[in-house]
Amino acid sequence: MPSTIAQSRITIQNTLTLSDINGAPGADIIQGLSQTPKTLPPQYFYDEQGSILFEKICNLPEYYPTRTEASILRNFAHAIAHETGPCELIELGSGSSTKTRYLLSAYADLGQAFQYVPVDVSGEMLTQSAHQLIKEYPSLTVHGLVGTYEQAMAQLPTPPNTPRLMIFLGSTLGNFTPEQSDRFLAKIHASLRPGDYFLLGVDLQKSPEVLHAAYNDAQGVTAAFNLNMLTHLNCRFGSNFILENFKHRAVYNQDFGQIEMYLDCHTDQNVNFKTLNYQVNVCSGESIQTEISRKFKVDALTKNLAQHNLTLHQVWTDPQDWFALLLLQCV
Ligand SMILES: C[S@@+](CC[C@H](N)C(=O)[O-])C[C@H]1O[C@@H](n2cnc3c(N)ncnc32)[C@H](O)[C@@H]1O
Repeated sequence: MPSTIAQSRITIQNTLTLSDINGAPGADIIQGLSQTPKTLPPQYFYDEQGSILFEKICNLPEYYPTRTEASILRNFAHAIAHETGPCELIELGSGSSTKTRYLLSAYADLGQAFQYVPVDVSGEMLTQSAHQLIKEYPSLTVHGLVGTYEQAMAQLPTPPNTPRLMIFLGSTLGNFTPEQSDRFLAKIHASLRPGDYFLLGVDLQKSPEVLHAAYNDAQGVTAAFNLNMLTHLNCRFGSNFILENFKHRAVYNQDFGQIEMYLDCHTDQNVNFKTLNYQVNVCSGESIQTEISRKFKVDALTKNLAQHNLTLHQVWTDPQDWFALLLLQCV
């Protein structure tokens, strides 16, 4: 059963145990490892250690996306709040809510009490951030949803009288294939009412050298983050991946305009997932794709969003046009 922890201005609801919404736990792993080439879903990057490593990646000198998106939010959060007026803020994949604070401050400055609904699979990170946020923002209530985007979107709190602003930052949309992205955008549209807003942060196309450096940092933090997925799976599903058999690789695929991240296997291994009752052979020379990160062009993306009845209201970018924030409205 889902559990709920409530204090006066803070509610944390666990939606993770509702396996009937998203299929049996681990079904996505079996599906990914049964296909050729093998894949693993990127949500498994995020156990406690994965969330810590991701925060470290965000501060790496080579990793421009976080600081660039943060600079756009710093410059334009008040303009965004002014455009939408008072809103309920829902953030998918909220993580530490660090960049979100620019938005929370701007909405607090509108002078009305408001609600923030962070959604994340990483319950530790979400709970810690929620407790911190209510200390920082006296006019804020937090209703956290621990679970996947799909689980959370099916269990959003009752719509308020103010419009909703659904927030999806960090270019996480780029981690979906075009087909997954279409299904996801249809769900976003279904969870909004006409007039509600969608704020989307996306990484734009740029030189392959800049992209390559961002995903192959000199300190090896991205490599540790990639490999940590195997540790997470070993803990969570009783699998026996030997980490020394795998190596991180990230390449820019110019044909598809996307970074592709892999774990390359160097020694044959039979991997046994005890709790899933599932075994798979991973052969030397085989690669498991753990993430794609598509890089966007604003025009093409805007057309795609319009097909989902999400129409462009305004775009903000940085001086180098490396990253964009799109404010869309649901019709
Ligand atoms: C790339 S981080 C982005 C964090 C933050 N939004 C940012 O822009 O820096 C992705 C976040 O989404 C969460 N996440 C990943 N897959 C998820 C899923 N399927 N459902 C819910 N949260 C997910 C992770 O735990 C992590 O905090």
